[in-house]
Amino acid sequence: MAIVDELRGLREAGEAAIASAADVASLEAVRVSYLGKKGSLTSVLRGLGSLTPEERPAAGKVSNEVRDALEEAVASRRAALEAVALEARVDSEKADVTLPGRRRVPGRRHLISQIVEETVRIFIGLGYMVAEGPEAELDYYNFTALNTPPDHPARSLQDTFYLADLSGERADVAGESDVLLRTHTSPVQVRVMERTPPPIYVLAPGRVFRRDVADPSHLPQFTQIEGLVVDEGITFGDLKGTLEHFCREMFGEDRRVRLRPHFFPFTEPSAEVDVSCGLCAGAGCRFCKGSGWLEIMGCGMVDPNVLGLAGIDSERYTGFAFGMGAERIAALKYGVPDLRVLVESDMRFLRRF
Ligand code: PHE
Repeated sequence: MAIVDELRGLREAGEAAIASAADVASLEAVRVSYLGKKGSLTSVLRGLGSLTPEERPAAGKVSNEVRDALEEAVASRRAALEAVALEARVDSEKADVTLPGRRRVPGRRHLISQIVEETVRIFIGLGYMVAEGPEAELDYYNFTALNTPPDHPARSLQDTFYLADLSGERADVAGESDVLLRTHTSPVQVRVMERTPPPIYVLAPGRVFRRDVADPSHLPQFTQIEGLVVDEGITFGDLKGTLEHFCREMFGEDRRVRLRPHFFPFTEPSAEVDVSCGLCAGAGCRFCKGSGWLEIMGCGMVDPNVLGLAGIDSERYTGFAFGMGAERIAALKYGVPDLRVLVESDMRFLRRF
Protein backbone atom coordinates (compact mmCIF):
# COMPACT_ATOMS: atom_id res chain seq x y z
CA MET A 1 0.00 0.00 0.00
CA ALA A 2 1.70 3.14 -1.27
CA ILE A 3 0.08 5.40 1.30
CA VAL A 4 1.36 3.32 4.21
CA ASP A 5 4.93 3.54 2.85
CA GLU A 6 4.47 7.25 2.45
CA LEU A 7 3.33 7.55 6.09
CA ARG A 8 6.33 5.54 7.31
CA GLY A 9 8.68 7.76 5.27
CA LEU A 10 7.04 10.83 6.76
CA ARG A 11 7.54 9.45 10.26
CA GLU A 12 11.23 8.85 9.69
CA ALA A 13 11.83 12.26 8.15
CA GLY A 14 9.74 13.92 10.88
CA GLU A 15 11.59 12.20 13.69
CA ALA A 16 14.93 13.19 12.18
CA ALA A 17 13.82 16.83 11.80
CA ILE A 18 12.53 16.87 15.39
CA ALA A 19 15.75 15.40 16.73
CA SER A 20 17.86 18.01 14.95
CA ALA A 21 15.74 21.04 15.99
CA ALA A 22 18.25 23.13 17.93
CA ASP A 23 15.84 25.25 19.95
CA VAL A 24 12.21 25.58 20.94
CA ALA A 25 11.41 27.98 18.08
CA SER A 26 12.76 25.76 15.30
CA LEU A 27 11.09 22.73 16.93
CA GLU A 28 7.78 24.56 16.72
CA ALA A 29 8.41 25.27 13.02
CA VAL A 30 9.06 21.55 12.44
CA ARG A 31 5.87 20.63 14.32
CA VAL A 32 3.79 23.00 12.20
CA SER A 33 5.33 21.69 8.98
CA TYR A 34 4.36 18.07 9.83
CA LEU A 35 1.37 18.23 12.14
CA GLY A 36 -0.12 21.65 11.39
CA LYS A 37 -3.27 22.24 9.31
CA LYS A 38 -1.22 22.63 6.18
CA GLY A 39 1.41 20.15 7.34
CA SER A 40 2.65 17.14 5.35
CA LEU A 41 0.89 14.52 7.55
CA THR A 42 -2.41 16.32 7.06
CA SER A 43 -2.02 16.36 3.30
CA VAL A 44 -1.21 12.61 3.23
CA LEU A 45 -4.30 11.94 5.32
CA ARG A 46 -6.39 13.75 2.75
CA GLY A 47 -5.35 10.98 0.37
CA LEU A 48 -7.12 8.43 2.60
CA GLY A 49 -10.40 9.32 0.89
CA SER A 50 -9.26 7.75 -2.39
CA LEU A 51 -8.63 4.34 -0.73
CA THR A 52 -10.98 1.44 -0.94
CA PRO A 53 -13.09 0.70 2.19
CA GLU A 54 -10.92 -2.44 2.81
CA GLU A 55 -7.68 -0.53 2.73
CA ARG A 56 -8.87 2.34 4.92
CA PRO A 57 -8.71 0.75 8.46
CA ALA A 58 -5.08 -0.30 8.10
CA ALA A 59 -4.03 3.02 6.61
CA GLY A 60 -6.01 4.87 9.30
CA LYS A 61 -4.26 2.89 12.03
CA VAL A 62 -0.80 3.63 10.63
CA SER A 63 -1.59 7.30 10.26
CA ASN A 64 -2.72 7.49 13.93
CA GLU A 65 0.49 5.77 14.98
CA VAL A 66 2.57 8.21 12.93
CA ARG A 67 0.73 11.24 14.38
CA ASP A 68 1.09 9.92 17.96
CA ALA A 69 4.76 9.12 17.42
CA LEU A 70 5.50 12.57 15.99
CA GLU A 71 3.54 14.33 18.74
CA GLU A 72 5.39 12.41 21.37
CA ALA A 73 8.73 13.08 19.74
CA VAL A 74 7.93 16.82 19.67
CA ALA A 75 6.91 16.76 23.35
CA SER A 76 10.01 14.98 24.55
CA ARG A 77 12.30 17.10 22.36
CA ARG A 78 10.62 20.24 23.69
CA ALA A 79 11.16 19.08 27.29
CA ALA A 80 14.82 18.39 26.56
CA LEU A 81 15.36 21.77 24.85
CA GLU A 82 13.59 23.60 27.69
CA ALA A 83 15.75 21.87 30.26
CA VAL A 84 18.89 22.93 28.40
CA ALA A 85 17.62 26.51 28.07
CA LEU A 86 16.79 26.65 31.77
CA GLU A 87 20.20 25.35 32.68
CA ALA A 88 21.86 27.95 30.47
CA ARG A 89 19.78 30.70 32.09
CA VAL A 90 20.58 29.53 35.61
CA ASP A 91 24.21 29.37 34.62
CA SER A 92 24.31 32.88 33.22
CA GLU A 93 22.35 34.42 36.10
CA LYS A 94 24.13 32.75 38.93
CA ALA A 95 25.82 34.95 41.51
CA ASP A 96 29.20 34.10 42.93
CA VAL A 97 28.52 34.61 46.62
CA THR A 98 32.20 34.29 47.41
CA LEU A 99 33.08 37.53 45.52
CA PRO A 100 33.77 40.51 47.82
CA GLY A 101 30.94 43.10 48.00
CA ARG A 102 31.14 46.52 46.37
CA ARG A 103 32.00 49.03 49.05
CA ARG A 104 29.74 52.07 49.21
CA VAL A 105 31.61 55.28 49.88
CA PRO A 106 29.55 57.31 52.35
CA GLY A 107 29.18 61.06 51.73
CA ARG A 108 30.68 63.50 54.17
CA ARG A 109 30.83 67.18 54.99
CA HIS A 110 33.34 69.21 53.03
CA LEU A 111 36.46 70.09 55.03
CA ILE A 112 35.48 73.78 55.14
CA SER A 113 32.01 72.95 56.50
CA GLN A 114 33.71 70.81 59.15
CA ILE A 115 35.98 73.72 60.15
CA VAL A 116 33.00 76.09 60.37
CA GLU A 117 31.05 73.57 62.47
CA GLU A 118 34.00 72.99 64.76
CA THR A 119 34.49 76.75 65.25
CA VAL A 120 30.79 77.27 65.94
CA ARG A 121 30.96 74.44 68.49
CA ILE A 122 33.90 76.07 70.30
CA PHE A 123 32.22 79.48 70.51
CA ILE A 124 28.80 78.09 71.44
CA GLY A 125 30.70 76.58 74.36
CA LEU A 126 31.62 80.17 75.36
CA GLY A 127 27.97 81.30 75.16
CA TYR A 128 27.99 82.85 71.65
CA MET A 129 25.05 82.77 69.23
CA VAL A 130 25.26 82.37 65.45
CA ALA A 131 24.28 85.32 63.21
CA GLU A 132 23.99 85.65 59.43
CA GLY A 133 23.95 88.43 56.86
CA PRO A 134 23.55 88.74 53.07
CA GLU A 135 26.37 87.87 50.67
CA ALA A 136 25.19 90.62 48.29
CA GLU A 137 25.61 93.55 50.64
CA LEU A 138 25.13 97.29 50.61
CA ASP A 139 28.24 99.42 50.40
CA TYR A 140 27.03 101.09 53.60
CA TYR A 141 27.36 97.92 55.70
CA ASN A 142 30.50 96.60 54.03
CA PHE A 143 32.40 99.90 54.35
CA THR A 144 30.78 103.11 55.56
CA ALA A 145 29.25 101.82 58.78
CA LEU A 146 32.61 100.15 59.48
CA ASN A 147 34.29 103.55 59.66
CA THR A 148 35.35 103.42 56.01
CA PRO A 149 33.60 106.34 54.20
CA PRO A 150 33.49 106.46 50.36
CA ASP A 151 36.78 108.33 49.92
CA HIS A 152 38.68 106.34 52.56
CA PRO A 153 41.97 104.91 51.27
CA ALA A 154 41.41 101.60 53.11
CA ARG A 155 38.74 100.72 50.53
CA SER A 156 41.45 100.06 47.99
CA LEU A 157 42.93 97.39 50.29
CA GLN A 158 40.03 95.10 49.45
CA ASP A 159 39.38 94.65 45.77
CA THR A 160 35.62 94.59 45.54
CA PHE A 161 33.18 92.97 43.13
CA TYR A 162 30.45 95.57 42.55
CA LEU A 163 27.00 94.33 41.51
CA ALA A 164 24.96 97.51 41.06
CA ASP A 165 25.48 101.26 41.28
CA LEU A 166 22.30 102.64 42.85
CA SER A 167 23.69 106.04 43.75
CA GLY A 168 21.47 107.86 41.26
CA GLU A 169 18.35 106.34 42.80
CA ARG A 170 19.05 107.28 46.38
CA ALA A 171 20.75 110.66 46.54
CA ASP A 172 20.54 110.64 50.34
CA VAL A 173 23.05 107.81 50.58
CA ALA A 174 25.08 108.60 47.42
CA GLY A 175 27.55 105.78 46.81
CA GLU A 176 26.61 103.97 50.01
CA SER A 177 23.61 102.18 48.49
CA ASP A 178 25.75 100.44 45.88
CA VAL A 179 25.36 96.68 45.99
CA LEU A 180 28.51 94.58 46.15
CA LEU A 181 29.65 91.10 47.09
CA ARG A 182 30.76 91.50 50.68
CA THR A 183 34.54 91.49 50.99
CA HIS A 184 34.39 90.33 54.62
CA THR A 185 31.86 89.17 57.21
CA SER A 186 32.30 92.36 59.26
CA PRO A 187 29.07 93.92 57.87
CA VAL A 188 27.21 91.29 59.91
CA GLN A 189 28.62 93.01 63.03
CA VAL A 190 26.76 96.20 62.08
CA ARG A 191 23.53 94.40 61.22
CA VAL A 192 23.59 92.60 64.58
CA MET A 193 24.41 95.77 66.57
CA GLU A 194 21.60 97.69 64.83
CA ARG A 195 18.97 95.20 65.95
CA THR A 196 20.33 93.83 69.24
CA PRO A 197 21.05 95.76 72.43
CA PRO A 198 24.19 94.60 74.33
CA PRO A 199 25.32 92.23 75.74
CA ILE A 200 26.22 90.81 72.31
CA TYR A 201 28.19 87.57 71.84
CA VAL A 202 27.84 86.39 68.24
CA LEU A 203 29.67 84.35 65.63
CA ALA A 204 28.91 84.97 61.94
CA PRO A 205 30.29 82.44 59.44
CA GLY A 206 29.82 83.09 55.73
CA ARG A 207 31.18 83.39 52.21
CA VAL A 208 33.15 86.46 51.18
CA PHE A 209 34.50 87.62 47.81
CA ARG A 210 37.54 89.53 46.61
CA ARG A 211 39.01 90.30 43.23
CA ASP A 212 42.04 88.15 43.88
CA VAL A 213 43.71 85.69 41.54
CA ALA A 214 43.69 82.17 43.00
CA ASP A 215 47.14 81.07 44.18
CA PRO A 216 48.35 78.70 46.94
CA SER A 217 47.28 81.14 49.67
CA HIS A 218 44.46 83.18 48.05
CA LEU A 219 41.01 82.39 46.64
CA PRO A 220 38.60 84.89 45.03
CA GLN A 221 35.82 83.38 47.13
CA PHE A 222 36.46 82.10 50.60
CA THR A 223 34.88 81.64 54.01
CA GLN A 224 35.21 83.92 56.99
CA ILE A 225 34.04 83.48 60.53
CA GLU A 226 33.36 86.77 62.25
CA GLY A 227 33.13 87.19 65.99
CA LEU A 228 31.67 90.15 67.87
CA VAL A 229 31.39 90.86 71.57
CA VAL A 230 29.87 94.06 72.98
CA ASP A 231 29.34 94.35 76.70
CA GLU A 232 30.28 96.46 79.70
CA GLY A 233 33.95 96.34 80.65
CA ILE A 234 35.26 94.28 77.71
CA THR A 235 39.06 94.66 77.34
CA PHE A 236 41.82 93.66 74.95
CA GLY A 237 42.73 90.99 77.52
CA ASP A 238 39.32 89.37 76.97
CA LEU A 239 40.00 89.33 73.22
CA LYS A 240 43.42 87.74 73.61
CA GLY A 241 42.20 85.14 76.09
CA THR A 242 39.27 84.23 73.84
CA LEU A 243 41.48 83.77 70.77
CA GLU A 244 44.05 81.73 72.70
CA HIS A 245 41.28 79.45 73.95
CA PHE A 246 39.98 79.06 70.39
CA CYS A 247 43.42 78.26 68.96
CA ARG A 248 44.14 75.64 71.62
CA GLU A 249 40.78 73.99 70.97
CA MET A 250 41.17 74.10 67.21
CA PHE A 251 44.86 73.30 66.75
CA GLY A 252 45.98 71.64 69.96
CA GLU A 253 48.27 72.70 72.77
CA ASP A 254 51.46 72.41 70.70
CA ARG A 255 50.59 75.25 68.33
CA ARG A 256 51.78 78.73 69.26
CA VAL A 257 49.82 81.95 68.77
CA ARG A 258 51.06 85.51 68.38
CA LEU A 259 49.38 88.88 67.93
CA ARG A 260 50.99 91.50 65.69
CA PRO A 261 49.88 95.16 65.72
CA HIS A 262 47.94 95.94 62.56
CA PHE A 263 45.41 98.40 61.17
CA PHE A 264 41.71 98.02 60.42
CA PRO A 265 39.42 101.06 60.06
CA PHE A 266 36.76 99.51 62.32
CA THR A 267 38.91 98.42 65.27
CA GLU A 268 41.33 100.35 67.48
CA PRO A 269 43.73 98.98 68.50
CA SER A 270 43.92 96.25 65.87
CA ALA A 271 46.03 93.13 65.51
CA GLU A 272 46.66 90.24 63.21
CA VAL A 273 46.75 86.78 64.73
CA ASP A 274 49.31 84.23 63.57
CA VAL A 275 49.52 80.53 64.37
CA SER A 276 52.74 78.56 64.04
CA CYS A 277 52.96 76.71 60.72
CA GLY A 278 51.77 73.10 60.90
CA LEU A 279 53.77 71.97 57.88
CA CYS A 280 57.21 72.88 59.22
CA ALA A 281 56.37 73.28 62.97
CA GLY A 282 57.61 76.86 62.82
CA ALA A 283 60.95 76.19 61.15
CA GLY A 284 59.97 77.98 57.93
CA CYS A 285 58.81 76.44 54.65
CA ARG A 286 57.30 77.38 51.29
CA PHE A 287 53.74 77.47 52.67
CA CYS A 288 54.59 79.98 55.45
CA LYS A 289 57.02 81.78 53.11
CA GLY A 290 59.89 80.92 55.43
CA SER A 291 58.53 82.76 58.46
CA GLY A 292 57.22 79.77 60.44
CA TRP A 293 53.95 81.68 61.03
CA LEU A 294 50.64 81.87 59.21
CA GLU A 295 48.13 84.66 59.53
CA ILE A 296 44.66 83.34 60.37
CA MET A 297 42.69 86.37 61.44
CA GLY A 298 42.36 90.05 62.03
CA CYS A 299 40.97 91.41 65.28
CA GLY A 300 40.75 94.40 67.54
CA MET A 301 38.64 96.50 69.89
CA VAL A 302 35.52 97.78 68.12
CA ASP A 303 36.11 101.43 67.19
CA PRO A 304 33.78 103.75 69.19
CA ASN A 305 32.68 105.31 65.86
CA VAL A 306 31.39 101.91 64.71
CA LEU A 307 29.45 101.42 67.95
CA GLY A 308 28.03 104.94 67.61
CA LEU A 309 26.96 104.49 63.96
CA ALA A 310 25.11 101.31 64.95
CA GLY A 311 23.34 103.13 67.79
CA ILE A 312 25.28 101.75 70.76
CA ASP A 313 26.45 104.01 73.61
CA SER A 314 30.25 103.85 73.34
CA GLU A 315 30.66 105.54 76.73
CA ARG A 316 28.99 102.60 78.42
CA TYR A 317 29.97 99.68 76.22
CA THR A 318 33.18 98.39 74.71
CA GLY A 319 33.68 95.38 72.48
CA PHE A 320 36.04 93.31 70.43
CA ALA A 321 35.75 91.71 67.01
CA PHE A 322 37.68 89.21 64.97
CA GLY A 323 37.44 87.76 61.49
CA MET A 324 39.17 84.55 60.51
CA GLY A 325 39.61 82.64 57.26
CA ALA A 326 38.18 79.11 57.43
CA GLU A 327 40.33 77.96 54.46
CA ARG A 328 43.49 79.14 56.16
CA ILE A 329 42.48 77.41 59.37
CA ALA A 330 41.91 74.18 57.44
CA ALA A 331 45.29 74.58 55.73
CA LEU A 332 47.01 75.19 59.05
CA LYS A 333 45.32 72.40 60.89
CA TYR A 334 45.94 69.76 58.23
CA GLY A 335 48.98 71.11 56.39
CA VAL A 336 47.21 71.77 53.07
CA PRO A 337 49.93 73.36 50.91
CA ASP A 338 47.58 74.89 48.31
CA LEU A 339 44.17 76.39 49.14
CA ARG A 340 42.96 75.74 45.59
CA VAL A 341 42.43 72.04 46.32
CA LEU A 342 39.63 73.11 48.68
CA VAL A 343 37.50 74.30 45.77
CA GLU A 344 38.40 71.62 43.27
CA SER A 345 36.32 68.45 43.57
CA ASP A 346 39.18 65.98 43.66
CA MET A 347 37.83 63.09 45.74
CA ARG A 348 41.34 61.79 46.44
CA PHE A 349 41.87 64.92 48.53
CA LEU A 350 38.35 65.40 49.95
CA ARG A 351 38.05 61.81 51.17
CA ARG A 352 40.97 62.26 53.52
CA PHE A 353 38.91 64.39 55.92
N1 PHE B 1 37.25 92.07 58.29
C1 PHE B 1 38.67 91.95 58.44
C2 PHE B 1 39.24 91.32 57.16
O1 PHE B 1 38.54 90.73 56.41
C3 PHE B 1 39.03 91.06 59.61
C4 PHE B 1 38.63 91.66 60.90
C5 PHE B 1 37.41 91.36 61.47
C6 PHE B 1 39.47 92.55 61.57
C7 PHE B 1 37.04 91.90 62.69
C8 PHE B 1 39.13 93.09 62.77
C9 PHE B 1 37.91 92.76 63.31
O2 PHE B 1 40.41 91.41 56.89
